[in-house]
Amino acid sequence: MAIGIGLLGLGTVGAGVAEILLNPSGRHPLVAELELRQVAVRSLARSLPQGLSQELLCTDPAAVVANPAVDLVVEVMGGIEPARSLILAAIEAGKAVVTANKAVIARHGAEIAAAAAAKGVYVLMEAAVGGGIPILEPLKQSLGANRIERVSGIINGTTNYILSRMAAEGASYAAVLADAQALGYAEADPDADVNGGDAADKIAIIVGLAYGGLVDRSEIPTEGIANLQLRDINYARELGYVVKLLAVAERVKTITDTSEVLDVRVHPTLVPKTHPLAGVNGVNNAILVEGDPVGQVMFYGPGAGAGPTASAVVADILNIAAIQQVGGPAAKLDPLLAATSWRSCCLVDSAITKHRNYVRFQAADLPGVIGHIGSCFGAAGVSLQSIVQFQSQGSGAEIVVITHEVQESNFRHALEMILLRSEVEAVVSCLRTL
Ligand code: HSE
Repeated sequence: MAIGIGLLGLGTVGAGVAEILLNPSGRHPLVAELELRQVAVRSLARSLPQGLSQELLCTDPAAVVANPAVDLVVEVMGGIEPARSLILAAIEAGKAVVTANKAVIARHGAEIAAAAAAKGVYVLMEAAVGGGIPILEPLKQSLGANRIERVSGIINGTTNYILSRMAAEGASYAAVLADAQALGYAEADPDADVNGGDAADKIAIIVGLAYGGLVDRSEIPTEGIANLQLRDINYARELGYVVKLLAVAERVKTITDTSEVLDVRVHPTLVPKTHPLAGVNGVNNAILVEGDPVGQVMFYGPGAGAGPTASAVVADILNIAAIQQVGGPAAKLDPLLAATSWRSCCLVDSAITKHRNYVRFQAADLPGVIGHIGSCFGAAGVSLQSIVQFQSQGSGAEIVVITHEVQESNFRHALEMILLRSEVEAVVSCLRTL
């Protein structure tokens, strides 16, 4: 029996979804059962994917949600509103939803999950994280036996593309960003990519599934790459590292079986060249999951773009279509696929977290300066892995320090002490190190 699909949005991802639905040949036979019945677009005057009839278009997404011929709503319009209201309206109408909208799920996931559970409908979102990489379903199902210790990932294709080309070609940040936008990797407003917000949305969604509880998206410490300097990428390379924008979630403390403290953050990070994430370049994403007892599992693939993202959207549609076809009672959701929260998670106070750091000082090239820096770190209990004076410009020096793992508050205190001496002019850059 055919399943009626209503598509909200016909941008990069929406067009990719339409192309798959309209060309089922050679795919799983269930794809042929998915019938695209209506498509909401911003403007009717536009070019269409091959085979898509103009008659399916309308400019009112609410009408698509309400259309009785639509059994399942695919939301790929992006943005918070009206996407959130349309998802809730579809749930209210008893329709399953598939979305690629990380911003809505990261902020309104609890509200949407509660509404979906009350109505007994699925809301699936594989495409919201990692583009074409299956990561959410594996976290819900294939890795369900594990206690997840840490998830660390490169989960923004645009910034990984920018960082890879800056490192390989010494290319300028602005030029590479323009290319990423032209290739359809970046969000409509690329601020969310370069300032780390897109990765923070995605790690918030991962946390909900990996740890069984939601965290407040607005509380996740987030730093992007907009202020990253080519100089630090080059120094990092000389020291044996590549710079990547990482999103990390790790268990800090288990309070009870249903209550956990997590360290969740997004920041540019020096990754040792030998680490599995170091070789992930271009628009590719990779997510390294560390669990007990599985150990380390890495998911790798294209993290953005029409085809990969549409692949994940249609996989979610197929999951729901398969359940509908076998006639499972709607009110009894598969608890692994539906993945409702079962634990309360909160974020750790960042002052007590422990990390390795890279810091670059601008200083006068005078006797005792490196000694002063080393003494201040030592007095604050910060152990150093290396301290290097990279080059002098006139009477100036650039001093780069990499610390061992230290408590954040001790590290910050040491920086304050170091800056009290006038020969140390500034902390120019401060990055995390794996
Ligand atoms: N702008 C996003 C990225 C698209 O660059 O990863 C995929 O979510």
